[in-house]
Parts: sequence; C-alpha cells; structure tokens
Amino acid sequence: MSTRNWRVGVAGLGTVGAGLLTFLSERPGFAPAGGLVSVSGVSARSRSRPRPFDISGLAWFDDPVALAQSDEVDLFVELIGGSDGPAKAAVEAALKAGKPVVTANKALIAEHGAELAALAEAAGVPLLFEAAVMGGTPAVKMVREAMVGDDVRSISGILNGTCNFILTEMEQGGRAFEDVLAEAQRLGYAEADPTMDVGGFDAAHKITILAALAFNCAPDFAACEVEGVDQVELLDIRMAKDLGYRIKLIASADRSDEGVSVRVHPSLVPLAHPLAQAGGALNALFIEGERLGRIFIQGAGAGAGPTAAAVAADIADVMTQAMRPVFQRPATELAAFTPVDRSRSLVRAYLRLLVKDEPGVIAAVSETLAEAGVSIESFLQKPVEDAEGVPIVLTTHAVSEAVLAQAVERIGGHPAVIQAPRLMRIARI
Ligand SMILES: NC(=O)c1ccc[n+]([C@@H]2O[C@H](COP(=O)([O-])OP(=O)(O)OC[C@H]3O[C@@H](n4cnc5c(N)ncnc54)[C@H](OP(=O)(O)O)[C@@H]3O)[C@@H](O)[C@H]2O)c1
Repeated sequence: MSTRNWRVGVAGLGTVGAGLLTFLSERPGFAPAGGLVSVSGVSARSRSRPRPFDISGLAWFDDPVALAQSDEVDLFVELIGGSDGPAKAAVEAALKAGKPVVTANKALIAEHGAELAALAEAAGVPLLFEAAVMGGTPAVKMVREAMVGDDVRSISGILNGTCNFILTEMEQGGRAFEDVLAEAQRLGYAEADPTMDVGGFDAAHKITILAALAFNCAPDFAACEVEGVDQVELLDIRMAKDLGYRIKLIASADRSDEGVSVRVHPSLVPLAHPLAQAGGALNALFIEGERLGRIFIQGAGAGAGPTAAAVAADIADVMTQAMRPVFQRPATELAAFTPVDRSRSLVRAYLRLLVKDEPGVIAAVSETLAEAGVSIESFLQKPVEDAEGVPIVLTTHAVSEAVLAQAVERIGGHPAVIQAPRLMRIARI
C-alpha cells in the first residue's frame, strides 16, 4: 500500500468547503489505503471573511485557477459552484495539468460533463462528483459502480430537499407555498433567490447526471423537461390526498426502445410508495434495474456534514487510484441522449379545474375529454371552503401527452372555467 502524501487544494470555503476542512482537521488520520491527506492551499472570494476554522497556515490563492495549477497541489477539490465561470475554469485547468478533480458541482457536471470527462480521460485522471447528487447519500457510486452489472430501466427521485421541505410543510401545516418558502428562507433552507431550487433546475441537474451514468449517455441538461413546485397549490395537495396520492417533485429518467426521457415535475405518488413517505428535507431515490429489480435509498441531500462526507469519499477513491471512465464508457464513445417524442409518450394525469357553480359544466368537461379520446379513471367534486368556485378533480387512464394537452386547452377555454386548469402527472412507479 502506498503512503503517498496527497496535497489537496480546496477552492470554495462556503458550506461544503467549510464542512470538508472541518472534517479533515477533526480526522487527521483520514488516510484510506495508508496514504496521507493534507490541505496545501485554499481559494475563496474573500480572504478576510471569518471562517469556522483557521486558514492562516494554508497557502491562499485569490484565483482558483492558480490553485488548480499550483505545483503544491496533487488533487483539486472544486466547491465554488456554478456551471461556468471560475469553477469551470479551475476544473479545466486542474485536468489539463493532469490532476485528479473532486467536485460537488451538479450544474458544472450536468452542463459540461462530457467535455470535462474527455479532458480527464485524456489526462488519465479521475473526475469524481459523488456530492453533486443527494449530497452525502451515495447515489452516484450506486449507479456508476454498484449497478454496472445491470441495465437500469428507470430512475425516480426526490432530489431537492428544499422543495421536499416546502411540499411537506404545505401538506402538514395547511400553509400556502409563499408562506412556507418565506419560512424556509428565514431558516436558511432556501436561498434568497430560490429559483434554482423551486424552479426544479437543481433537481434537473442531478437527474441529468444520473441519467448519463445509468444510460451511458453524455449529460444533456437541455434535453431535460423542467417544471418546479412554485405553481403547486394547497388545494391540489388536499385533493390529491383525497385520491390517495401525495404531491412530490419527482425527477425521473426512463429508458425505452424509443429513447430516453428525463424530466422534473410535480407528480402524484401513491401514499404507500416509499417516495411518498420521504418527508421534510430528505432526498430519496427509487431505481429499477433489469436484474436487480427495485432499489430504494434515502438520506440527507445537503448540508455541510453529509456533503463533505461524500467529497471525502471521493478523495479516498482518488487516493486508492480507482480509475474508470467518468460516465461508464470512454467520453469519446458516449451516445447522445435520444429524447422520446413527447407526442407519443403516454401519461396518467391529474386534472384539477375550478369552475362556476352552475349546471352543465361537468357534462361539458366530460364531453370534451371523451371527444379527444381521454378516458377518465376517477372523478372528485368536493366543495372547499376557502376556494373561489367549485374544484373538480379527475384522473385519467394512460393517454398521449399531446392529446391530453389539446383537450385541456379546450377545457380551459370554457366560460365556466374560472382558473387555468392544473395538470400534473401521476408518477409511473
Ligand atoms: N450546500 C450544500 O448542502 C450542497 C450540497 C451538495 C452540493 N453542493 C454543491 O457544492 C458547491 C458549493 O456549495 P456551497 O453551498 O458550499 O456554496 P457556498 O456556501 O455559496 O460557497 C461558495 C464558496 O465559493 C467561493 N467563491 C465564490 N466565487 C469564487 C471565486 N471566483 N473564486 C474563488 N472562490 C469563490 C465563496 O467564497 P467566499 O466564502 O469568500 O464568499 C464560497 O467560499 C456547489 O456546487 C453546490 O451546488 C452544495
């Protein structure tokens, strides 16, 4: 076993960077396979900002690219964030200099993973990103390593803790989206600009990465269809529950003969399903493989401690010289995503309308759906005290998305319909 000393350069000393430096200072013996780890240099925006650990003895770099290129650094850890800018420049510089890279940056890997993988493989060094998906819960290693002997059919996950927290609080406290979001921001669970989280983009970055690993494709963030939780209303949470479902922000990747479909959207999940049971800020992942069948994991998806643990696990892998192609196959051989033609994909859907309380409305809705060939599975009409108008909810049997969209547009134009129809998919799990 090697007793090599690995000199680590850490760029980014925020939540995750601070967590990593704290971990390494508390665990000086963290030395997989007999090697040694020492932090030889750090970089952040502000040198004078108070940190939860002493950086006075560490070499300081204003420029993370210079840190990545430093002769004193054998392994570069990128914890700055962002798909472009300094994070990308520094990772590229490290790989071009032949240094292994560990990053927690999902945006960077989802949007530039293939080109970075090509750089890493040309240099013969690892590029590892366990912390990028589900923080400390080992989703990347599971798909990339443990499931390499299987063919993954589908992945469905709750991959954003902030959205899960918001939906859970809405349901349990009977509170509106804006109210819970404001509290999440006060508690520090949600960013001042919550768009990445509540708009579904953070979960989209993560499912893009898992889809690439599972299906041997180059990550293609642009091919991911994204809808966040900002339009979810308390009324839908209540109605869905009456029908036996819980609304979750589900990130999914499915493979069929027609191609790969990667999406993030609020979905109705049967109450008894493990994904429906994962509440609060938990993350959860449900995978179906040809041979392994169904696998379910859940755990912390963020936070200094769990995320730093995942970064440390990647550092350990670099030290033990584990080397495999970044996305299962050499970057030059990765296939492009073949997105499924949306007009041919089938969904079961939840449709909620708010209508004027007058005769003939239900008949008109049913007729429009029947004419379009949309078959109704269940129907619920329930007066709700604080709703303006009468809510009508129906679920459909499997139907083409295109056909459903046309029918819903026609229904939305009916004079008795007083709010744009709310359409959500029922999760295929
Ligand atoms: N937070 C989590 O729980 C979590 C979980 C999983 C993955 N991640 C990922 O981990 C990465 C870091 O997240 P975080 O939450 O730790 O972010 P953060 O708290 O905002 O920290 C970002 C760090 O980057 C530094 N920085 C910004 N611009 C820089 C530049 N031009 N040069 C050098 N340093 C620069 C900042 O410096 P200053 O401190 O001086 O401002 C700060 O230390 C992101 O990719 C994120 O998506 C985070």
